[in-house]
Amino acid sequence: MRQIIIDCDPGHDDAIAILLALAHPDELKILGMTTVGGNQVLDKITDNALKLLSYVDAPIPLAKGAAGPLLGKLVTGEEAHGETGMDGPILPSSRYKPLDVHAVEFMLNLIRNAEGKVTLVPLAPLTNIALLLTAYPEVKDKIDCISLMGGGIGEGNVTATAEFNIYVDPEAAQIVYQSGIPIVMSGLDVTNRAQIHAVEIEELKRRGKASVLVGELLDFYSIYSKVLGYDGSALHDPCAVAWLLKPEIFRSEAYHVEVETKGDLTRGMTVADRRKKPTQEANVRVLLDVDRDAFIRMITEALDVLDRR
Ligand code: BDR
Ligand code: CA
Repeated sequence: MRQIIIDCDPGHDDAIAILLALAHPDELKILGMTTVGGNQVLDKITDNALKLLSYVDAPIPLAKGAAGPLLGKLVTGEEAHGETGMDGPILPSSRYKPLDVHAVEFMLNLIRNAEGKVTLVPLAPLTNIALLLTAYPEVKDKIDCISLMGGGIGEGNVTATAEFNIYVDPEAAQIVYQSGIPIVMSGLDVTNRAQIHAVEIEELKRRGKASVLVGELLDFYSIYSKVLGYDGSALHDPCAVAWLLKPEIFRSEAYHVEVETKGDLTRGMTVADRRKKPTQEANVRVLLDVDRDAFIRMITEALDVLDRR
């Protein structure tokens, strides 16, 4: 059983990742959740997270973290996620409230008090995680792995070279990538292949409560996927959870990866040393491909479990 902390900015695909984790209590124990400014401003995405948890009766303790990046102003993902950060279905107000503690202190306490090691699952800009590792470097020894959604060694989405979560806070990302903690990176290389198709979305809408919610979320989300030129919708964040459950459905390579914080064309790029003889040791397992059908099956089966609860 893995003990995890999910750091997120829901976010359509964040919501699906959270549901995927909630459907696997035997494999993943969610110690807590934290939120960070990203897809929308902090209050909106925190509200989305709490509404989602309330909708599926999952009282996971949640703390709000950084409202914006370490440097500069927050860039949101409103084009993809809408004005609320999770446009589409109208969820009832949440029965839950955020804890009265900052995300960084909350993570610190969870990690300190955990029996054994903890896995961090960041699905958003890495601001909270960088703050944690900088303020309390001693927690590194109790973090076995960071399975994150972010970056890409072949392409970007906000720019030609940078993916959204890294682009929003490259300084934070560089701190995390250089932390020495083993990283599993679900970047665009794999997540753009983890697409759900329109017929599969329609099928979800004919099923139970959790499936219908996800179908309606994806109806909105797929509008922007089409704008980007894709037929299907990339389920970015769920890859970081899916790898924890079934690593065997992914193909990956280990590389030394760092984050560019300066370049005019490349700020926020995750740069992998792919030379035959790299000069530094690999710090990141980069996911490159996934068995799409198995991945979508995992999502639909997880929603089925939640539908029946
Ligand atoms: C990432 O950015 C956000 O819009 C998504 O939630 C995902 O975490 C994809 O680039
Ligand atoms: Ca996200």
